[in-house]
Amino acid sequence: MLKTHSCGELRREHVGQTVTLAGWVNRRRDMGGVIFIDLRDRAGKTQAVVDSGRTPEGFAAAEGIRSEYVVQVTGVVSPRPEGQVNANLPTGEIEVLVDQVVILNTAKTTPFLIDRDDTVDETTRLRYRYLDLRRERLQRNLMLRHNAIKFIRDFLAERGFIEIETPILFKSTPEGARDYLVPSRVHPGKFYALPQSPQQLKQLLMVAGYERYFQIARCFRDEDLRADRQPEFTQLDMEMSFVERDDILNLVEELMIGMVQAVSLVPLASTTFARLSYAEATERFGTDRPDLRYGMELKDISDIVGSSAFRVFAENVAAGKPVKAICAPGCASYSRKQLDELEGMAREQGAKALAWLAIQPDSGEMRGPIAKFFTVDQLIAITERLDAQPGDLILISSDSKAIVHNVLSTLRTELARRLGYTDKKELAFAWVIDFPLFEEGLEDGHFAPSHHMFTAPKPEHIALLDTDPAAVLSQQYDLVCNGFEVAGGSIRIHDQTLQAKIMSLIGFSMEQAKEQFGHLLEAFEFGAPPHGGIAPGIDRLVALMAGEPNIREVMAFPKTAQATDLMADAPSVVLPRQLDELQLAIKEKPAKAS
Ligand code: AMO
Repeated sequence: MLKTHSCGELRREHVGQTVTLAGWVNRRRDMGGVIFIDLRDRAGKTQAVVDSGRTPEGFAAAEGIRSEYVVQVTGVVSPRPEGQVNANLPTGEIEVLVDQVVILNTAKTTPFLIDRDDTVDETTRLRYRYLDLRRERLQRNLMLRHNAIKFIRDFLAERGFIEIETPILFKSTPEGARDYLVPSRVHPGKFYALPQSPQQLKQLLMVAGYERYFQIARCFRDEDLRADRQPEFTQLDMEMSFVERDDILNLVEELMIGMVQAVSLVPLASTTFARLSYAEATERFGTDRPDLRYGMELKDISDIVGSSAFRVFAENVAAGKPVKAICAPGCASYSRKQLDELEGMAREQGAKALAWLAIQPDSGEMRGPIAKFFTVDQLIAITERLDAQPGDLILISSDSKAIVHNVLSTLRTELARRLGYTDKKELAFAWVIDFPLFEEGLEDGHFAPSHHMFTAPKPEHIALLDTDPAAVLSQQYDLVCNGFEVAGGSIRIHDQTLQAKIMSLIGFSMEQAKEQFGHLLEAFEFGAPPHGGIAPGIDRLVALMAGEPNIREVMAFPKTAQATDLMADAPSVVLPRQLDELQLAIKEKPAKAS
């Protein structure tokens, strides 16, 4: 080894020892006759003191050293002189008095400072990711990620799970996104699909009798990217046989609590996870992934305003459309411009307008263009329903239920951000259960699965498949945290007849099903056990535990929102020879209209 110790481990008890350290020059200060080098490696920083009186050759070498040079020093650990102890640094009580300096490598001037957490634009950070990764923030995040994955592996292994790798070159496994395709050279014109998840394979492992499987699995989805989405990401993929829903929820809850307590920088809000039905979550928060760190719940005021003189509300209520509202504490003073901004957001979610009532802080009087349409009793009933106080702003939406929920959940999130509620450093986990099996019916009379087509209906709802498929609830469950979906799973269908029925409701002919999932359907004929599983998203969980707003901050080499790798310049063109081998030709892009 080129070092005896790391740059993070020397303490007072090492004083007097001769040590060799190696790492990067974090900073170099020339004090005339003495050069201080802060030497950095993954474990931390140590101050090395190169004194021209002690080592003239070492001093000469140190004079040429610049930031980020790779350097080895040998010297004696000594206590820092009085007044120079740095309480902020774990190694701050000591320094190394250097006898020998070896420059292992030089470095060009870096495009940004490594030792300062100042803002560097993300394009530069991604272009020089290997330098960005030297910085404390990413080192801390990747270490947290490592610790989380190690915790998961140990936890599951102790409970009888085994880790099994499944292929990356496989067949399409739809999870709602586009597939990444890989052309086959050996079979021209044919393609592998990169797995959107190992869903089919883990179910096949259950048929194969493995009972408790997990995998830290890479998944690939060609979809529009957001702060919490990457084209390739990592799931903790799990599947269990002979289980019921609550067995899975309880196990994952125990895993999450243990993991957060062991590795997270952000603490748990509670060690019991709320369980909300899909219906309750959407009624109360307008979304199936509510942020439970704060209230501002949606309240239905249809019964109060349905009989009011405000025609839009009265007509909507008569037509079965709800009127719902949220209360933004202290926002009565919002200006016209701020209210217009909120209305703009509501319109983006499909609203035709956004109504508001501001309760004046002093008089308690109601201000707002629609206030005059309500009686005093109606206004009092609205404030009571929303538990609104003088100084608060009430935002009201009325339309189809879906639009009202989208509008108010968007505004709830936005106002929480503005009010600082989302700065709260805690992890508020909750389960969302009892999802509808299908999303709303499609125009052709078929139904789209709300999870995937292998999810089982609730047993007591199977009969409804024949009469009212839209009313069928499923055994799907999601784990949400602070407004993000961090895991999704379900109890699966293990019965072929039921699977065939669901496929026909989805509009999958038996031929299509056989072509795409023939292997799975066939496997189910050989004794498939009752089974179910779940897949927590590792990137999202680690980002939440690190207090990061974006999953790119917890991935070593993430892609941009345009799905590119700025460092390696991927995707990139390939050689004509490679295309020929694959018997592929690139279509000319149609010329852009000028
Ligand atoms: P689902 O599609 O809900 O379920 O995905 C599970 C979890 O994976 C994470 N996730 C993502 N993370 C980053 N970038 C993405 N593009 C992305 N897409 C999903 C989320 C999500 O909750 N096969 C099922 C699981 C099962 O039924 O067992 C599945 O993949 O945290």
